[in-house]
Amino acid sequence: MRIKNKYKKPTALGCNAGSRSSLAVVLWSLVGCLIFLHLFTLVHHTDVQNKEMHMGIHHPLLLQLEEVEEENIQMPPPRKRSPRAVKRKPKRPTTLIDEFLDESSQIRHIFFPGMKTAIDPMKDAGNNSFYYYPGKIWLDTDGNPIQAHGGGILYDDRSRTYYWYGEYKDGPTYHAHKKGAARVDIIGVGCYSSKDLWTWKNEGIVLAAEEKNETHDLHKSNVLERPKVIYNDKTGKYVMWMHIDDVNYTKALVGVAVSDYPTGPFDYLYSKRPHGFESRDMTIFKDDNGVAYLIYSSEDNSELHIGPLNGDYLDVTSEVSRMLAGQHREAPALFKHGGTYYMITSGCTGWAPNEALVHAAESILGPWETMGNPCIGGNKIFRQTTFFAQSTFVLPLPNLPGSFIFVADRWNPADLRDSRYVWLPLIVGGAADQPLEYNFGFPLWSRVSIYWHKRWRVPYRWSDKY
Ligand code: DGJ
Repeated sequence: MRIKNKYKKPTALGCNAGSRSSLAVVLWSLVGCLIFLHLFTLVHHTDVQNKEMHMGIHHPLLLQLEEVEEENIQMPPPRKRSPRAVKRKPKRPTTLIDEFLDESSQIRHIFFPGMKTAIDPMKDAGNNSFYYYPGKIWLDTDGNPIQAHGGGILYDDRSRTYYWYGEYKDGPTYHAHKKGAARVDIIGVGCYSSKDLWTWKNEGIVLAAEEKNETHDLHKSNVLERPKVIYNDKTGKYVMWMHIDDVNYTKALVGVAVSDYPTGPFDYLYSKRPHGFESRDMTIFKDDNGVAYLIYSSEDNSELHIGPLNGDYLDVTSEVSRMLAGQHREAPALFKHGGTYYMITSGCTGWAPNEALVHAAESILGPWETMGNPCIGGNKIFRQTTFFAQSTFVLPLPNLPGSFIFVADRWNPADLRDSRYVWLPLIVGGAADQPLEYNFGFPLWSRVSIYWHKRWRVPYRWSDKY
C-alpha cells in the first residue's frame, strides 16, 4: 500500500528558510548549553574554593608556601680544553642538565651541596623550625645520611608515627656492563620513623638482600626499587610492594612482602607480572574505603596500568585498566583530594631528570586526563626537570586539606647513595590552567601546584599537633 504524503512538498525557498531556522534553533540551544555549563562550572568551582577557604586551604601561613621563589643559576664559563680533547669530544656541556649530570661540573655544589652545608637536625629542631632544604644531605637522628630512595611514607594510626621506607643504597655505584644503567647492589629496604616528618630515626633494614642464593629475587645482583607499604585493617598486617628486576630490567616484576610490625622484619612472599603484564616503576594507593590499588608502568613503559588489590593486599585481582596509553610515563605518585584522584608522573629518561606531569580522574580506574606541569617557581629549567628530581610519593599534610608534601628523588647517577631528597609543598586549589580534552575547555578540576623553595617548613609546630 502506498502511503500518501499529507504534506505539500516544500518549495526550494521554504526548504531553505525551514532548515535555516532549525539550524538557528540548534545553534542557540548549543550556545545556551555552553553558557549553562560554563556558569555551572564557575559556581561549582567557586563553591569548591569557598569550601577550601573554609577548610583553611588559604590559611595565611599556607600563603608562605605558595610564594613564587625564583632561582637564578648562572651557567659556568666554558672550560679550557686541549685541542686534542676538543677533537676527540668536541661537544662540551651546554645545558644545565648536562652540568647536573657532569660529575666535574663547577656548579655541582648547587645540585649536590656538600656535607658542610648540610643542615644540623639537632640545631634546627632546637629552634622548633623544622625546615626542609630540598637537595641538601638529610641526616637521621644518629647523624647519618638517610637511605630511603624511591620511597614512600606510611602514617601508622596505631602508633601515631610516620614510617619512611625506601631503597637503602649505601653501596658503591657501578655499571654491570658497558650499556647498563648505573646501579647499586640490593642492600634492602630502609625504614625510618618520625613523629614530625622531619626528625627521622633509623629503624634498620626491614627487608634485606639475599647474599648467597643467586636465584632469589632479592639476590644482591638484582634490582629492588620503589618499595611502598600500606596497612591492612582487616588482617592487621603491613604489606610491602616493590619493583623487582634483573640487572637489565627485563624481568619487570612486582614483589610482595608482609610483616606484623611497621618496623619489620618483612617476609618476602613472591614476585609476578601483575595481570600478566610487565611492571617496572610502581606504587600502591589505599583509598578511603580501604580498597588498595597497584599502579605500574607497563608495555615498555609506554603506558600505566591500575588495578585493585584483593582483600588481604597480597595479590592483584583480575581487574585492570590502562591509563595514559602512549604517553611513556613512570614514577607514579597518586593522591586524592575532594573526591578527585590525582597522580604525578615523570618521563622515562633513566636517572636523568625530566618534566613532571599531573593527571586527574573522577574514578580511580579512569579515564585519566593529563593536566600539565605542576611545577611553579625556580626557573624554566627547574620546572622542566621537576627541580632536578623525580616523583616518588605524595603525602597529605594532616589538618590542612588540599595541602600535601611532594616527595621526590634527586638521583645522583655518579654515586647513587648520595642521591638527595626534594620535598616541596604541593597545593590543590584554583582553576586548572590547561583545558582538558573532553570538557570543551572548561576547567573541571582544581590546579595542582608544586612550589619551589630553597628552604621551607610546615606552617605549624608539630609539637602543637602531637
Ligand atoms: C627511572 C626509574 O624511575 C628509577 O626508579 C630507576 O629505575 C631508574 N629509571 C633506572 O635507570
